[in-house]
Amino acid sequence: MSEFNLSEQAYLDMDEVEFRARFRERTHHTLEIQVYHAAYRNKTLSNRQADTVKKLCRIWVKRGISTEQHDYKTAQKLIEFAEAMAAEKSIDLSPYAPHPVSKPQEKSFFNIIHERRSVREFKKDRVGDELIDKILDAGIWAAHSCNLQSIRYLVVREETSPGLFRGSDIPGGPVHLVICQDFRVYRANPYNPVRNRLLDAGAAAQNIALAAHAAGLEGVWLTFTDKIKERLIKKFDLPEYVEPVTYVDIGYGDQTPYPLLRPQVKDVVLGRG
Ligand SMILES: Cc1cc2nc3c(=O)[nH]c(=O)nc-3n(C[C@H](O)[C@H](O)[C@H](O)COP(=O)(O)O)c2cc1C
Repeated sequence: MSEFNLSEQAYLDMDEVEFRARFRERTHHTLEIQVYHAAYRNKTLSNRQADTVKKLCRIWVKRGISTEQHDYKTAQKLIEFAEAMAAEKSIDLSPYAPHPVSKPQEKSFFNIIHERRSVREFKKDRVGDELIDKILDAGIWAAHSCNLQSIRYLVVREETSPGLFRGSDIPGGPVHLVICQDFRVYRANPYNPVRNRLLDAGAAAQNIALAAHAAGLEGVWLTFTDKIKERLIKKFDLPEYVEPVTYVDIGYGDQTPYPLLRPQVKDVVLGRG
């Protein structure tokens, strides 16, 4: 048994968050990468390639977790591909091709990148829950190391929980989106460098900041003081394995700051090999 292939009992005994993280990690490293590599090169796949994931699927069912969950459904699709390829059938990935990006869409995308600003003053208008969830969803769709999915959120409205963020260098609000991480997921891969953890949170936060602007809001990515963090942990009774890592305040912007101009690409490329 390696640290990746545990006994069935160990998989049954661990908490569900760790089990599902291990399930996704194994799916990613023992199936997903191999399937797409072989499909692209018209190579066949061993009929044992999906064994690890199949075993984890059986344990999934034994644990009584819903087979409608995203991670299980993804694994099933990859098993389906792997079985077809092991039988020397080609797989059709064309239904999963992204919509072609039109020129106007491309322009809008880069406008969103260039016109997002840190906006620190907000109107009083209430931000609807649906809009908040749409923005949080953008954070979940960020890349994540080993597909471990550590991201968790706290949504704090200043009007509902006033003062939790006092001590921040700006008044902020009206909605504080706190990006937390459930660090239990990282037990699934001890070789994932520790710095990836912060990058995972940063990727989610960046998507959130961009999505807020794309959705007609504005926002600012902010820094916790230890006191703010402690207040959040206490208020939401967070266990020790869940940590608030960073936060983005959003709302309807009431300020249009001059863009903080950036260096040109040629001035920041240190080398081209
Ligand atoms: C990790 C991180 C922490 C930040 N913390 C703060 C902060 O504590 N207070 C603040 O006013 N802005 C904060 N910002 C926003 C930056 O000041 C801002 O992004 C930067 O000045 C560039 O301006 P722009 O976002 O308008 O392009 C933070 C940004 C990042 C990425």
